[in-house]
Amino acid sequence: MKPSVKFWRSEEREEIEELQETGEVKKAVGAAEKAVRARRDGGMLKQRIFAAVMILLVFFIHVKIQKPTFYPRSKVVFAVGRACREGESRSAALPVLEGLWWLGDVQVEDELLTLVNSWNPIPADRMFNLAEVENGYLMDERCVADLQSMMNDCRAAGLSPLICSAYRTQELQETLFWRQVGKLEASGHSSDAAYAEAAKSVAVPGCSEHQIGLAVDIVDVSYQRLNDAQENTAAQQWLMQNCWRYGFVLRYPRDKVEITGIYYEPWHYRYVGKDAATAMYLRGVCLEEYLAEGVMEGLTGFVPEAPVEGAGE
Ligand code: DAL
Ligand code: ZN
Repeated sequence: MKPSVKFWRSEEREEIEELQETGEVKKAVGAAEKAVRARRDGGMLKQRIFAAVMILLVFFIHVKIQKPTFYPRSKVVFAVGRACREGESRSAALPVLEGLWWLGDVQVEDELLTLVNSWNPIPADRMFNLAEVENGYLMDERCVADLQSMMNDCRAAGLSPLICSAYRTQELQETLFWRQVGKLEASGHSSDAAYAEAAKSVAVPGCSEHQIGLAVDIVDVSYQRLNDAQENTAAQQWLMQNCWRYGFVLRYPRDKVEITGIYYEPWHYRYVGKDAATAMYLRGVCLEEYLAEGVMEGLTGFVPEAPVEGAGE
């Protein structure tokens, strides 16, 4: 067998030719086969490296797609609204997100991001289906599975979370609100002051996100009082750290009172979906800020009104 000269590397060719010349044909064939094997193994190694690189590439692309962006393009936050001026539609006008005042009449494309607060009442045509979570409490059916998983996982971690409020009817919100107003009046507040103060802890009826079935109050079985100390309970610590994984956010954080208009509530969780919850958690922004930042990034149709000279001061 005369090996093709072009095929061999010089040192291989030399070895094979030397063996041929000395009549050691068997050895020459063996050397040629060995060289062919080495060439084939080298080729397979290249193929394997190529396959590994491809797998890594596909994995990287997959992770990149999975990784939440702050404003998921698949569900772009689309909000139309207007900048409200002090006194225009809310007695206790809030300081504003920088350069934007505060948002009123906000409409979002993704219903799970619906902004409900004192100056954004529940849209009259809001429709949703309710489903039971546990102990007879109802929620918008779109968040029930995630809420149930959150409760289950919290319990699996050895903790004892307890739902103490979920969907509320208008009548129930009225009862809670006017009861709070009554308490404040009884403690010496004028009716106007009692109304304004009550609205900072119990939403004005028609303006509570409990009424759209996307808010839930959860306490620790060992401590069921609704006050700041609730944040120290083991269940609450777990929920605050993990709620975003299930599409929930702590809706009224301590450092956002000026923006939300509601006092710190370390028990009130709002469902916004996993993408938005992750983005809000990572950026440390509340729903008002999230929507407003979306506005500023040009992802919404919001156009602020020019401020009127002297208004809002
Ligand atoms: N406590 C919250 C603000 C509500 O009543 O909806
Ligand atoms: Zn609540």
